[in-house]
Amino acid sequence: MLEQIKKIEEQIEKATAQTKEELEDFRIGVVGRKGIIADLFSQMKTVAPEERKTFGQTVNALKNAAQDKFQELQDALESLQATDINHQDLTLPNIPNEMGSVHPITKVREEISRIFERIGFNISEGPEIEDDWHNFSALNFPPNHPAREMQDTFFIEKDPDIALRTHTSSVQVRIMENAKPPFRTLSPGRVYRNETISARAHCIFHQIEGLYVDKNVSFKDLKDTLYYFAKEFFGPNSKIRLRPSYFPFTEPSAELDVSCSVCGGKGCNICKYSGWVEIGGCGMVDPNVLKASGIDPEEYTGFAFGMGIERMTMLKYKINDLRLFTENDLRFLRQFEGL
Ligand code: PHE
Repeated sequence: MLEQIKKIEEQIEKATAQTKEELEDFRIGVVGRKGIIADLFSQMKTVAPEERKTFGQTVNALKNAAQDKFQELQDALESLQATDINHQDLTLPNIPNEMGSVHPITKVREEISRIFERIGFNISEGPEIEDDWHNFSALNFPPNHPAREMQDTFFIEKDPDIALRTHTSSVQVRIMENAKPPFRTLSPGRVYRNETISARAHCIFHQIEGLYVDKNVSFKDLKDTLYYFAKEFFGPNSKIRLRPSYFPFTEPSAELDVSCSVCGGKGCNICKYSGWVEIGGCGMVDPNVLKASGIDPEEYTGFAFGMGIERMTMLKYKINDLRLFTENDLRFLRQFEGL
């Protein structure tokens, strides 16, 4: 008898119910008034009196287990049906999809690209993992020159020739090596420097490089191009200012300032009360750089400029912390939806 009970116990344990009908079969066959459990209780009278107590306890435990099992099967079936399309209430409002939006850096990169495309610049790209030649040597950075120190980056120990590019000027070299002038091209992209991350500096940021090489390209062409850009991007009343500076790959070189778009040039804490903010560097392509890429500097001249996309985005949207761009905080990103 006890062996029979053991078998029933095992069967109950293994029982499943995928449909309402199967659940009902379990109810009738096991826990119902005419089910196995009830049947066992009715056999009580055939059990020897001294064994009745143990028998009663065993069947009682089995009954509890069977009822628990029934409850368990019923709950599982209900939750299965809740996710079944046939049992969903289709008149309920939809759970909205979380829509992403264009990142402000991407948006500004596109906007700048469109402005330069209107005056004949095409878009070109280059690798973020660069070699020494394209990032430094071809750009007239002699080995051990202090200008390399200013653009410290991430190197690979095993092969010091490979590094993450420090600027998009490396794309200039790739273009000049692979095409014949004239070219007028814009190279946007991510760049890297070994910088401590703060509100004003980051080890990852974005630049846009411009390059124009042709016969008789002059410094005036550079100035006019940058002035046109500043008016298109920051507004028609914008002014530019070029301050003499140094870059190994341009001569003469200048820092490019634009009148502060936040205060209109009157002075505020963004422009440190000077009315001007620096947005990049520029200059006439150094003859050595043209030569390194196989272009005759007697025949061709060119200008180049490089601007920081983060800096321009911060000015345009009055953002005061560079780190916000890489934190992916939705509260920040959602402010640019639909722009
Ligand atoms: N590559 C320079 C920098 O990252 C910017 C620059 C580009 C200057 C082109 C002059 C000409 O600082």
